[in-house]
Amino acid sequence: MGKSQIRIGLLGFGTVGSAFVELLETQKSSIFSKTGLELVVTHVAVNDLTKDRSGLNAQTLLTNKPNEVIENTEVDLVVELMGGLLPAKDLVEAALENSKPVITANKELLSKEGRHLFTLAGVRKVDLLFEAAVAGGIPLIRVLRESLLGEPVEKIMGIVNGTTNYILSQMEEKSMPYSEALLEAQNLGYAESDPTADVSGQDAASKAAIIAMVAFGADVSLDDVPFEGIENISSADVAFAKRAGCAIKLLAMVSKYENELEVQVYPAMLPNSHPLSSVRDSFNAVFVEGAAVDSLMLFGRGAGGMPTASAVLGDVIDAAVNLSNRTYRDIGDLTEVPLIQGDEQKSAYYVSVQVIDEPGVLATVASVFAKHDISIQTMEQEGMDREARLVFITHEVEENRLEGALSELSNLSCVEKLGTVIRVLEA
Ligand SMILES: NC(=O)c1ccc[n+]([C@@H]2O[C@H](COP(=O)([O-])OP(=O)(O)OC[C@H]3O[C@@H](n4cnc5c(N)ncnc54)[C@H](OP(=O)(O)O)[C@@H]3O)[C@@H](O)[C@H]2O)c1
Repeated sequence: MGKSQIRIGLLGFGTVGSAFVELLETQKSSIFSKTGLELVVTHVAVNDLTKDRSGLNAQTLLTNKPNEVIENTEVDLVVELMGGLLPAKDLVEAALENSKPVITANKELLSKEGRHLFTLAGVRKVDLLFEAAVAGGIPLIRVLRESLLGEPVEKIMGIVNGTTNYILSQMEEKSMPYSEALLEAQNLGYAESDPTADVSGQDAASKAAIIAMVAFGADVSLDDVPFEGIENISSADVAFAKRAGCAIKLLAMVSKYENELEVQVYPAMLPNSHPLSSVRDSFNAVFVEGAAVDSLMLFGRGAGGMPTASAVLGDVIDAAVNLSNRTYRDIGDLTEVPLIQGDEQKSAYYVSVQVIDEPGVLATVASVFAKHDISIQTMEQEGMDREARLVFITHEVEENRLEGALSELSNLSCVEKLGTVIRVLEA
């Protein structure tokens, strides 16, 4: 056993950083009694030295030069809670080069630079832990890396973005239009003033890439992950889903098909019988299917200072114990795995089409589906003043074949507008 005191250098004292310090303070003696280790935050780096930092005790050294924290010989372990790609990447790299374990919550950094940083951590034989980077307070990464290490995992479906889940839940429960639900999410602090990363699906795509690395050892980065968001989902789509016994959810999908992986993010209609469909508000949940374990679901807070700090602290304790035992655990080799292209994937689809309300239109639209060999499960027509909205649920079809039909539909003179197209998943 090595040192009994582990000195922590913290980069960032914002929502998560300040919650981490507060949580560590309350848990310090319990951690000591369980591990024999005293964890102390000795150095903190921030941007703005003039802000109130009353959560820090007087002995903590505060600086706006994060490099000084990393290079300081009195810092044993680095916790990166600044966010963003740069300078976080350079700082994490420098800490690992200095053989200091790093704990980070930074999904952007890992989804773009994960392979390089994991390799560096392996070379330096130190931990690079990142539980909080995916689904905040839900201990998904540890479950994948430890509990399910021997499991032939087949599929991981996650609601990993709380902002979009909140918006979709409000649209469903209160029949709110998208713009109103987004505004409410912003007022409650769930959505940023620029919500693009969340509503476009990009944030969930970063998490999908990290899940693919951990669960399948796949060398996947954010650039490899196709993503669709929820910006085009209308109240009418949500109302239809509800009538059909489904909920619309933004899903991060990571699935193995023989030697290929599907890593994608898209909104999908999920039947109410699927456990993920009942995950509401800003909660996150991850549903895992494996050949041995069958299925399991993890549910909890995907964001927020304290839930995220809980995940960070768990990692810090792991890394501190490893450091004192002069050991570490790397993620293993990441290998290139062929990724299934979205347009080759088969799914049933919900397709809505706004048409002029006149005789023969339904037959014309249906004939386009037939021409592309797409069979229809159900059809619904809603009349509007001189216009009608036709809604189709198709049987399973490849995305590229559906796209061919949609492009032909959009050229029909009776079609006013193509509406939303959403995958429909089975329970
Ligand atoms: N918030 C959540 O619910 C949540 C959930 C899961 C994961 N995460 C991840 O956790 C990380 C931190 O998020 P957060 O919400 O805590 O962010 P935040 O509230 O914006 O805090 C960022 C902190 O980093 C400091 N900082 C930024 N750039 C810096 C620089 N160049 N040099 C020194 N300090 C710098 C800021 O300093 P000032 O205080 O001086 O501005 C601030 O203290 C991000 O990677 C985020 O994706 C957050």
